[in-house]
Amino acid sequence: MTLQAWETTTCSATETRELGRIFGRLAEAGLVVLLSGQLGAGKTCFAQGVGDGLGVAPSSPVTSPSYTLLNIHQGRFPLYHFDLYRLAQVDDLADLGYDEYAEGEGLTLVEWADRMSGSLISSLEVAIESLGGDRRRLHFTARDDRGGELLGQLVRKWTAVDISS
Ligand SMILES: Nc1ncnc2c1ncn2[C@@H]1O[C@H](COP(=O)(O)OP(=O)(O)OP(=O)(O)O)[C@@H](O)[C@H]1O
Ligand SMILES: [Mg+2]
Repeated sequence: MTLQAWETTTCSATETRELGRIFGRLAEAGLVVLLSGQLGAGKTCFAQGVGDGLGVAPSSPVTSPSYTLLNIHQGRFPLYHFDLYRLAQVDDLADLGYDEYAEGEGLTLVEWADRMSGSLISSLEVAIESLGGDRRRLHFTARDDRGGELLGQLVRKWTAVDISS
């Protein structure tokens, strides 16, 4: 089953991380996923779960890179964690070799992808919206067949998870 779009609400950071973890377990090398949402929406929180699901060691924690645009973590395959919040100009991303990472054999996760005004190619977009308090609405949109396939798998797994247990 492929799915074009899906939304869900999480009620805690733990829940968002768990959704990310399931995503990370399902993810395949070569995917590009764009994360958007305001400061503190939960992009890094989701990315931490993805790292966990990819098998990234706790000694290499996924954090919000303060002054770096890219952190690389090794899991089942590499996690290229970009944060474009401090991206000054488009050229800086090219200088970093973004295209090689995005076309490489890792999972590319990009926070603040919207800083690039929609010009990044991806398989999947995840927009996180705060609903107040600890509630977050996560909007998933598939941008290609691989993204749609993964989204279908994620929804199947997520709806099978009893988060209260
Ligand atoms: N349902 C939820 N999902 C995710 N985070 C939540 C949730 N409820 C509360 N939080 C809290 O919101 C904050 C999310 O921070 P996080 O660093 O993940 O945001 P971000 O989108 O990466 O922000 P930034 O743009 O600064 O990088 C954390 O302090 C987390 O504990
Ligand atoms: Mg962040």
